[in-house]
Amino acid sequence: MAVVGGTGSGKSTLGRLAARFYDVTAGSVTIDGIDVRKIELSSLRSQVGIVPDEPFLFSLSIHDNIAYGRPDATRAEVIDAATAAGADEFVANLPDGYDTVVGERGYTLSGGQRQRIAIARALLMNPPILVLDDATSAIDVTVEQRIHGALKDRMQGRTTLIVAHRLSTISLADRVVLMEAGRVIADGTHASLLAAEPRYAAVLASLSTTDEEVPA
Ligand SMILES: Nc1ncnc2c1ncn2[C@@H]1O[C@H](COP(=O)(O)OP(=O)(O)OP(=O)(O)O)[C@@H](O)[C@H]1O
Ligand SMILES: [Mg+2]
Repeated sequence: MAVVGGTGSGKSTLGRLAARFYDVTAGSVTIDGIDVRKIELSSLRSQVGIVPDEPFLFSLSIHDNIAYGRPDATRAEVIDAATAAGADEFVANLPDGYDTVVGERGYTLSGGQRQRIAIARALLMNPPILVLDDATSAIDVTVEQRIHGALKDRMQGRTTLIVAHRLSTISLADRVVLMEAGRVIADGTHASLLAAEPRYAAVLASLSTTDEEVPA
């Protein structure tokens, strides 16, 4: 499901509520009909993986950062996740490869590199629910396309919420929700929203960062 909406419309809040970074003050969030407040936090967090736009990396090796949620992962599994996240190439070129220590006490990665490590971390966790919240905002379009290609396979059989600003991202989703002022104001396929919901086209046009992706 692609989540589309202007800044401050509530897209990030949706994902954070699902993983209980905080709780609703009214209503409820349910997963398979179960209120998330009734689920043990560690269990919930193992089911809902969130990749934020400014992910946090620990002052550890790249391997340990990717394997953070699954410390028993083998190097081959870490490389597989990193490859799907478009990170393998730049990691392999670092002085110590996957053993390179990053963060405050180590090598400084760019924003887009950090995002790719965070995507790899989430893919390795393999959660049934994956939330990508502007997870590729600092990654250039060519690399993003490659990541999307890998994501297409890995989204099979799982629920993925993806905050989307570009048509290429929206095209990964079979359902789109449009948010405004904290509410879902329209829900459908990209084509049905484009045809019937002028606010959808307006939001897309205002969000799009590259002209050729603005719908006519
Ligand atoms: N912890 C919080 N408590 C109360 N209000 C919050 C909290 N976090 C965010 N908000 C508010 O909720 C609204 C939605 O914020 P949110 O971060 O979900 O927007 P967004 O759609 O992700 O925007 P952007 O596209 O800029 O990332 C904003 O008005 C924001 O100020
Ligand atoms: Mg946000």
